Amino acid sequence: MLKEALKLHTTNFINILKDFLSGVKVENSGEKRLLDAISYSLINSNAKYIRSFLVIETAKMLGFNTTEDVKKLAIATEMIHCYSLIHDDLPAMDNSNFRRGVDACHIKFGESTAIMAGNAIQVMAFDVLSSISKPEIALKLIKEMANVCGLKGILGGQVIDLSPKLKEEEFDEMNYKKTGVLIEFCLNSVAILFETKEHVSNLKMYGKNLGIAYQMQDDILDEGESEYSYINHFKTRDLLKKSLKERLKTCEEAIVGFNFNFTLLDLLKFLEKRTY
Ligand code: IPE
Ligand code: IPE
Ligand code: MG
Ligand code: MG
Ligand code: MG
Repeated sequence: MLKEALKLHTTNFINILKDFLSGVKVENSGEKRLLDAISYSLINSNAKYIRSFLVIETAKMLGFNTTEDVKKLAIATEMIHCYSLIHDDLPAMDNSNFRRGVDACHIKFGESTAIMAGNAIQVMAFDVLSSISKPEIALKLIKEMANVCGLKGILGGQVIDLSPKLKEEEFDEMNYKKTGVLIEFCLNSVAILFETKEHVSNLKMYGKNLGIAYQMQDDILDEGESEYSYINHFKTRDLLKKSLKERLKTCEEAIVGFNFNFTLLDLLKFLEKRTY
């Protein structure tokens, strides 16, 4: 059931993204080339769009509708994720030729355009956040997102991932920063948007543990391709699976008290077994 809900979300969200991009006016061939690279990377029916799903479903769990502001928050999370993937695939980073079943952005458009498309999507996300209806809330979200992207977030995680030697104790920190911090933001930002401070710690607990569990599953699916894979961190695959289960259990405990928690609970079962 969750699988169907996620598929439906992918279709709906692609339309939301297309709508957004159709509002970006290009005035010369350079702008067109960048926008083509952005659209190519952002819109792909093989993407799961799990981060925007989390934003929308968290709002529902807290009893709120999918307002324009919720949609903007969701768009911003997918933009930041997409930028991080474009740069992650570059030759200087993971050097991956494929992304989401097609050529990576730098293979399709060349390295320089891919670097700039990544930069452009990142700043686009901040522009989207700045248009959230209440300026003081928009500012809080921009600040929070800046932390997600920076030294204490995605870039802090990626720099550890690309470092020549990884200390055992840096493992969870690396994965939390490169993947978990943005996923945590998908939950926590909804509490900021609706000014419901009392839920922040539970939402963060779900988001943080889900983020790490998500990267554990990603490493299982990548079959230990990278040296710093969770598969190499745990002595056996069973121990990794056990730790993954524990993380998901913590997520469950974090949201068990919410009235409309059905989808986010269901998501935990789905993610434990995800194959893509
Ligand atoms: C892949 O993320 C990279 C990670 C941070 C684990 P996803 O598995 O969410 O990728 P898409 O967006 O569905 O392609
Ligand atoms: C991606 O981690 C993390 C970010 C892009 C921030 P991976 O390098 O494991 O993701 P995949 O396997 O390329 O999707
Ligand atoms: Mg990587
Ligand atoms: Mg990679
Ligand atoms: Mg991976």
